[in-house]
Amino acid sequence: MKGSAQLLLVVLAFGILQACSDQPGTYTPARVNIPFTPDISINEVMVAQIDHAAHFIWDAADPDRELSMSEWQEVEHHSIQLISSRAAMTMGGTGVNDAMWIAQVSWRDYVNQMNDAAVLALTSARLNDKIALTVASDDLIESCEGCHQQYKPSIPTEGYTHNH
Ligand code: HEC
Repeated sequence: MKGSAQLLLVVLAFGILQACSDQPGTYTPARVNIPFTPDISINEVMVAQIDHAAHFIWDAADPDRELSMSEWQEVEHHSIQLISSRAAMTMGGTGVNDAMWIAQVSWRDYVNQMNDAAVLALTSARLNDKIALTVASDDLIESCEGCHQQYKPSIPTEGYTHNH
């Protein structure tokens, strides 16, 4: 009994040494994504976050508008809101269709398209670049329209719409 316990210890110790020697001195902690489900639906994220943020960007991209410094800063903030909503859009929440949507490859493609447009809007805002903002604004519309055409039901699943 004693002998086999010792053998087990030796085997364990050898295993640990082996594991350590695989990557000598190169241990970097893995980035841990803690899974969670937002307590809101994609329908709610659309109405209360994405739609608001996008409309500000579209208004700001109007070629007849001269943006003040604080308006550029608002464009920056709204771009960040869009970029941050990418996580909620790929995670899904309480909506009845959310889990089904987020599992589709083309869903993720549209989310990424929206994200790329928002990143361009953010860079444009930081450089006060109106031409780049116009491009970002057009790209943004394309992402909304593309995804809605494929996924948006004609009646919002929760009856939650934008009234203001
Ligand atoms: C990846 C897909 C996707 C993208 C990108 C997307 N949407 Fe949506 N959107 C949806 C889906 C799906 C719904 C329906 C949600 C529901 O009814 O549960 C929706 C619903 C909405 C609604 C609420 C319903 C309504 O008719 O009032 C608004 C507003 C909206 N989206 C705005 C936008 C805007 C603005 C953009 C672009 C900046 C955008 N969405 C980008 C998928 C998307």
